[in-house]
This record gives sequence, C-alpha cells and structure tokens, in this order.
Amino acid sequence: IGRELIHFDEIDSTNNHAKKIANDGCPHGTVVVAERQTLGRGRVGRLWQSDNNQGLWFSIVLRPDLEPEQVQIITLAASVAVVEGIFRDLGINCGIKWPNDIILGNSKLCGILTELSAEPGHVNYVVVGIGINVNQSFSEFDADIQDKATSLQIHAGKKISRVKLLAGILTCFEEMYNKVLEKNTKDIIDRWNKYSVTLDREVKIVSRDMEYIATAQSVAPDGKLVVKCKDGTVREISAGEVQVRGL
Ligand code: BTN
Repeated sequence: IGRELIHFDEIDSTNNHAKKIANDGCPHGTVVVAERQTLGRGRVGRLWQSDNNQGLWFSIVLRPDLEPEQVQIITLAASVAVVEGIFRDLGINCGIKWPNDIILGNSKLCGILTELSAEPGHVNYVVVGIGINVNQSFSEFDADIQDKATSLQIHAGKKISRVKLLAGILTCFEEMYNKVLEKNTKDIIDRWNKYSVTLDREVKIVSRDMEYIATAQSVAPDGKLVVKCKDGTVREISAGEVQVRGL
C-alpha cells in the first residue's frame, strides 16, 4: 500500500480522483494525496473543510477479495490504523467514535469516508478517504466547526511533519488490512473497542425516517454497531444507514 502514490497541490477531492483511477484499473494500494481540496467530501453529503495545506488529505484504493457485506470492517481497520499511527509517531492518544470519527480531547481530529464499487457478490474496489487535521490553528477552521474540530498541532503545541505521519499511518493500515484479508476481524474489533469512546454510552440514532436513543453495546464481527434500545430490543446499525450522535 502506498507503493504507487499520486500527489496533487490542489484537487476537488482525493476520493473523486481515486474512484476515477480505480475505474481505469489502477493497482491495488494506490494512494492519492493532495495539499488542498476544493470540494473535500464528508459523510452523508457534508463538506469537509480541506482548502488549506495544513492537513493530511488522502485516499487509498483497495481491491479486496471480499463480499460487499464484508467491507464495513475496512473502515474500522482504517480508524485503528489512524489511532495507532498517530500514537506511534507522536505518542498522542486518540479515541474512536463509531463508525469513523477520530476524537482528540472532545473534538474531531479526523474523518474517514469509505466508498464502495460493487456488484452482488463482488467488490470492484473500495476507496478509503482519510482527512486528518494536522497543523491548523483554531482560527483556520471555518466558524461552524471551530467548537467541534481540533488539530494535532493545537494539541501538541508544535508543528507536525505530515509526510512522516502519512508514512506511519500507511504502515499501520497495511498491517490492519492484512488482518482483514486473513479474516482476523477479532483482533481488529478488540483494538477498535480499546480505543472506542462510544461503547456503553447513550447514542442518538438518526436515520431517514426516525430518531431514537439507545445504548451502544458492542461492535459485531462484521463491523455493525450493536445497540440496545430503551424497550430492551437489540439492533444492529450499519454505518451507511444512520448517523450516531454521542449525547
Ligand atoms: C467525515 O467525517 O465526514 C469524513 C471526512 C473524510 C474527509 C477525507 S479528506 C480525503 C478524502 N477526500 C475527500 O473528499 N474526503 C476524504
């Protein structure tokens, strides 16, 4: 992973470019990284502020031999890789909010947007897009996210090398991805649970047609979040269907 690396000063979205070259047949493990994105995309159609060269904005193209239903674990593997990569490089402890937010203190440090191209029973490719706030100061965040976002520099009080961090995270990701292929989901989920700030907490599940409060209990072997509702029923929530807001 990362042997093939494409760098842009500016692009609309590294995920868009990764999907384009994946459709054109680029090799497994190709990484697209950009200094700035003009149309960085977040989950559920949101924009991701990345119009500055202070963050790490990159996407990884994967061609796993998996069923489409098994792909969700890759996002969990990526979250673990980001947490462990940051810890190994900088000694900073982050947490994970299901499914894919990396939290530092109480603020969001990193988001992951996984996109899948598949047919029934067959995955064409997966693009894992990772955005990490690295060297921004508070005033560089847009007003609407200033109270929610943080960066590694704000936490560490010094400028961080983005190249070294990227290399470390890709190394961690490769280790975690091998576990995905070996079907060693237990190890991925054990690590994920260790970093989780969601489990045992009340979460608000927001889907298209309803909203309810439940307690996050565990992560299922396929990566779904298991929640217990107020009436005692247990449900499995998939990242594509809902948003989870910590309370
Ligand atoms: C989220 O938390 O909503 C996910 C944010 C994902 C942002 C990254 S930055 C690199 C890649 N390219 C994009 O357009 N989005 C992802």
